[in-house]
Formats: sequence, structure tokens, C-alpha cells
Amino acid sequence: MEVFARGVRNSVGFDFQPKTGELYFTDNGVDFMGDDHPSCELNAAAKAGLHFGFPYYGGGRERHEDWADKQPPQKTTMPVVEFQAHVAPLGLRFNRGDLFPAEYRHDAFIAQHGSWNRSKPVGYRIMRIKFDENGKAVGKETFAEGWLQGTLAWGRPTDILQLPDGSLLISDDYQGAIYRITYRSPTTASAQGVEPANAEQVARQSGLEPKGSSAAGKFKAATCSTCHGIDGNSYHSPWPSLAGQHAAYMVQQLNAFQSGARPSDLMADPARALSEQDMRDLAAYFAAQIPQPKDTEPVLARRGASVYRGENLANPALACSTCHGATGEGNASAGFPTLRGQHSAYTAAQLKAYAAGTRLSPTSAVMRQVATRLSEEDIEAVATFIQALP
Ligand code: HEC
Ligand code: HEC
Repeated sequence: MEVFARGVRNSVGFDFQPKTGELYFTDNGVDFMGDDHPSCELNAAAKAGLHFGFPYYGGGRERHEDWADKQPPQKTTMPVVEFQAHVAPLGLRFNRGDLFPAEYRHDAFIAQHGSWNRSKPVGYRIMRIKFDENGKAVGKETFAEGWLQGTLAWGRPTDILQLPDGSLLISDDYQGAIYRITYRSPTTASAQGVEPANAEQVARQSGLEPKGSSAAGKFKAATCSTCHGIDGNSYHSPWPSLAGQHAAYMVQQLNAFQSGARPSDLMADPARALSEQDMRDLAAYFAAQIPQPKDTEPVLARRGASVYRGENLANPALACSTCHGATGEGNASAGFPTLRGQHSAYTAAQLKAYAAGTRLSPTSAVMRQVATRLSEEDIEAVATFIQALP
């Protein structure tokens, strides 16, 4: 094994150019430099040992501010083609067939997965990169689009393969679908040139309509996924998993983050941008996800089970099980959240916040009362027990 190229950021698609044998690959620009910076890229490595600029360059020719005063270790190779920031170029395929008209012969196709955190979404389409007969990139244009309707995307092109007949297969990891784009040469004199395949039409014909609100929620959830995981299972234990949580509870909490009633450094911003409809869509999506079971420390969990059932409480009405259910399933209509499988670090932090009076929302009075009765050890134990609930 050896390093072939350095300074590459988040490259997903690559292919060898049939003409020159050079390795071409896509590269996604860094995030958090604004809506319009920096570019996403198509690169070419004619030989081993080149450096493509990351992290000194955030994308394209734009320096990354954290690295602006540092020099790349060697000469930087700039991209062959630059794309709009955030379009997320993934799959890449050179045309090796002769189904499409002759002017496509040397071209490449790139699947743009679409932006996840740009204020107005971009991408969600297939680009054509035009090459001349010497294998030099000479232009780019949209080849297939329609997955983005206004600001709502209902499909995300991911990868491209070519069938032996020269038609293209496009995968879509949002609908879980594969589209085929083919070409029939015009048989009538009036038909001129190429009619680009319309992805939406192809999808409609195969019975794939845009879905309802959980599907809308899935798309909107892209901005939440860095912290909560794309399927609502967060991988960082201080951040809560949302998978399987009751939708009504989540809407209530999102409102509390938005109004400031539940103060949170990390949630204030994401919540501020949401409309009531967004909240419902997001809650529907996360509620439908499956929580991942977690391993846990058995001795502590056994002690936690006794705390959970309120075995040492004079007032059994304050046992966790009274409201959150015997197995932590909560109660959707009463507004008692599901607890099962939640990261113990998150649960313990919330119990401490209730006790300290820093988790203040109109619905938190009962928990503030409950939590002040728990010792530090009780909190660790019950949080461990809850994490183990399947
Ligand atoms: C930067 C990380 C981050 C992002 C992005 C983020 N969250 Fe959160 N979220 C958190 C943290 C951390 C908490 C726990 C809040 C606290 O302790 O203050 C939380 C809490 C929540 C809760 C309450 C969970 C519970 O069990 O009470 C909901 C619901 C939620 N987030 C939904 C969302 C949605 C929807 C989005 C996207 C629009 C989102 N979050 C984006 C970090 C994040
Ligand atoms: C009388 C009913 C009741 C009892 C008893 C109760 N809870 Fe709760 N619990 C609630 C309600 C209501 C909320 C939502 C509060 C809010 O809006 O902040 C909640 C929220 C929570 C949360 C926050 C969940 C999240 O996702 O952020 C945790 C953790 C929790 N309870 C744990 C416990 C534990 C542990 C016990 C037992 C020691 C317990 N609760 C006992 C009603 C109860």
C-alpha cells in the first residue's frame, strides 16, 4: 500500500480517463465558510505524489482561514473543474459507450448529491463535464435534474454506472432507487439534437412519487444529522438520540429551544430556523427511526433498575416507571418522553440540569421535583439502566 495523492478532502467518486489513463476524482469543499464558499472540485492526478491543497485550501483556490498563514508542504495542484459551493459531487463516470450522440464521446458524468447545510439548497443533479478529443476538460453543463423542486429535494443522486449498452444507471440514496437514463436518436426530421433525460419523469414512470411529511422530515434532518445521526442515533454520548422518540414531545422541546424556555448552546441555532411544519416533519421522521441498543455496565444497571422502579421511595408516584413506563417507553399522549436506549451521559446530564433548575421549560416542573431527590450515584445508576433498555 502507498499514498498516491495528498491534500484530498472527502473524495467519493473516481474513474480513470479512458483517453489519458489519468485518475480523476471528486472532492467536496469544507463546510462553514458560508453559502457560496468554497468551491467543490473535480481533480486529475496525472502521476503519483501530487498535493491537492487540503487543508490549506478549503476548496478550489480559496484558502481556509485556519490555515491561511501556513504554507502547503509542496506545490498545490488546482482542480480541473470547480463547482458551486455545497453541491457535493459524489459519483463520477467517464462515458465509455457509444449510445449517446458523438459529442458526448469523451465526456464524464458527475452525480451532485446536493447541499445539506446551505440556506437555499443547490445540486441534486447530474452534471456533464465536456472533454475535447485530447482529453482536456472544456466545459460543464447540467445533464439531468428535477430532484430539487424549489427548496424541497425528493431525491439525491449518489453514484453512476454505465451499462454495456451505454445507458447510465443513477443511484439515489434518498428514495432508495436506481434510475436508468438512455437515449434514442431522433427518428423524425423535426426532432433536433439531444433531449436530456428528465429524472423526475423517469421516476414518475416507475411509480416513485415524492412522499409525505416523514420524507420531508428526512430531507430537513440533514442539518440535524451531524449531531443526532442521520437515523436519529447520535454517536456522541452527550448528544441525545432521537430515534423512536415521541413526535409530540419533540415538537414541544423544539418550541422550547426556539423560545429559549429550554436554554441550550447547541440547539438554539438549529431550532431558530424551524417553522411549525418543519418541526412536525422532523419529529415524524425521527419518531419513525429505530433506536440502536447499547452495551452497558451490568452491576450499575441493576442498581439503576431499583432506582427506576422507585424501590427506595416513600412516594411510589414519583417512581420513573409511573410516568416513563416499565420499559422506558414513555407515554406519547401524556407528553412523557421515551427514555429507552438513550445515552447515559445525556440522561445523567439532563437529570442534573433538572435538579439544578437549568432545564426550565413549562413542562419540566415534575422532573425538577423528581431529580432533586436523586443522589449523584442514583443518577449514574439509573442513567446506565436506561441506556440498556432495549
Ligand atoms: C450542533 C449539534 C446539534 C444540532 C445540529 C442539532 N442538535 Fe438537537 N440537540 C443537541 C443537543 C446537545 C441536545 C441536548 C440539549 C441540551 O442539553 O441543551 C439536543 C436536543 C434536541 C432535542 C430534544 C431531545 C430530548 O430528548 O429532549 C430535539 C427534539 C432535537 N435536539 C432536535 C433537533 C433537530 C430537529 C435538529 C435539526 C433541525 C437538531 N436537533 C440539530 C445537539 C444538536
Ligand atoms: C410524574 C411523571 C414523571 C416521573 C415520575 C418521572 N418523569 Fe421523567 N419526565 C416527565 C416529563 C413530563 C418529562 C418532560 C419534561 C420536560 O419537558 O422537560 C420528563 C423528562 C425526563 C427526561 C428528559 C428526557 C429527554 O429526552 O431529554 C429524563 C432523562 C427523565 N425524565 C428521567 C426520569 C427518571 C430517571 C425518573 C425517575 C427517577 C423520572 N424521569 C420520573 C415525567 C416524569
